Amino acid sequence: MADADGNKRARDYGLDIPVVQDSFFVKGMNNTDWGMKNRLSRIFNPKSGNTVMLAFDHGYIVGCTSGLERIDLSIAPLADYADVLMGTRGAIRAAIPPTSNKAVCLRATHDASVLFDDMASGSGLGVDMEDALRMNASALAVQCFVGSQKGERDSLEVLCRACDAGYRYGVPVMGVTAVGKEMARTTQYFLLATRLLAELGASIIKTYYCDDFEKVVAGCPVPIVIAGGKKLPENEALTMAYQAIQSGARGVDMGRNIFQSEHPIAMCQAVAKVVHEKFTDKEAYEFYLNEINK
Ligand code: R5P
Repeated sequence: MADADGNKRARDYGLDIPVVQDSFFVKGMNNTDWGMKNRLSRIFNPKSGNTVMLAFDHGYIVGCTSGLERIDLSIAPLADYADVLMGTRGAIRAAIPPTSNKAVCLRATHDASVLFDDMASGSGLGVDMEDALRMNASALAVQCFVGSQKGERDSLEVLCRACDAGYRYGVPVMGVTAVGKEMARTTQYFLLATRLLAELGASIIKTYYCDDFEKVVAGCPVPIVIAGGKKLPENEALTMAYQAIQSGARGVDMGRNIFQSEHPIAMCQAVAKVVHEKFTDKEAYEFYLNEINK
């Protein structure tokens, strides 16, 4: 059995050898069913292979927060500029017109609210597959607390059951590597957490950008998208997105760095330039400045 003692650190990531994608463009998904591939093709643009997910699920933990006070006013107008809307069923049903026709990545867990010290102190499945299908979800997002005494077991159980249902109905599950109190944001941690969630059945992994990110990508058999994290100046957020894409990330699942920007539409468009059109961070920031000065 694999154990921590005597576990030799990974070395050879084959960084110069592309993964063979002979029958389908999404990494690791060659051998899945038609419905799963169809949903993945709504999430990842078949031309670029990448995705801009707009994350606005923060309210399920922190309640009403800056930029998400009125999702109908802040997020609905942004929908046209993203590929995927990533939110809770409550927010999407209430505030996003179904005519937006964007792929939905449905936040499918409940976790401890901001009133608790540690996000990992309680989580479970927050949506059943029947309701996810009723919402025409293209993916489910499941938060996982790898390395947490309190949250690892329960959250991985939720992931496994969501993947069972996902494979039954052709719905990909995005495993989200949450960083709670006990989890360090190190390359070693993200190497472990991303791989572990993919091995348990997740078809997409959402994680944070870190040093040696190309190794995290190479060691993970399915596509990785990065979370944006706390609001940064626009140029820095674009640099992070650019570096992640250069390292092999297949997109972003970005929230605050878009909806808390003073110019969210221009920022979302600039991120999409990096993700889909091979813009450098500097080119994308110039694009952003031009848009806001029009
Ligand atoms: C994490 O799981 C959150 O619920 C958000 O979806 C995620 O952090 C992405 O949003 P942001 O870019 O604001 O970090």
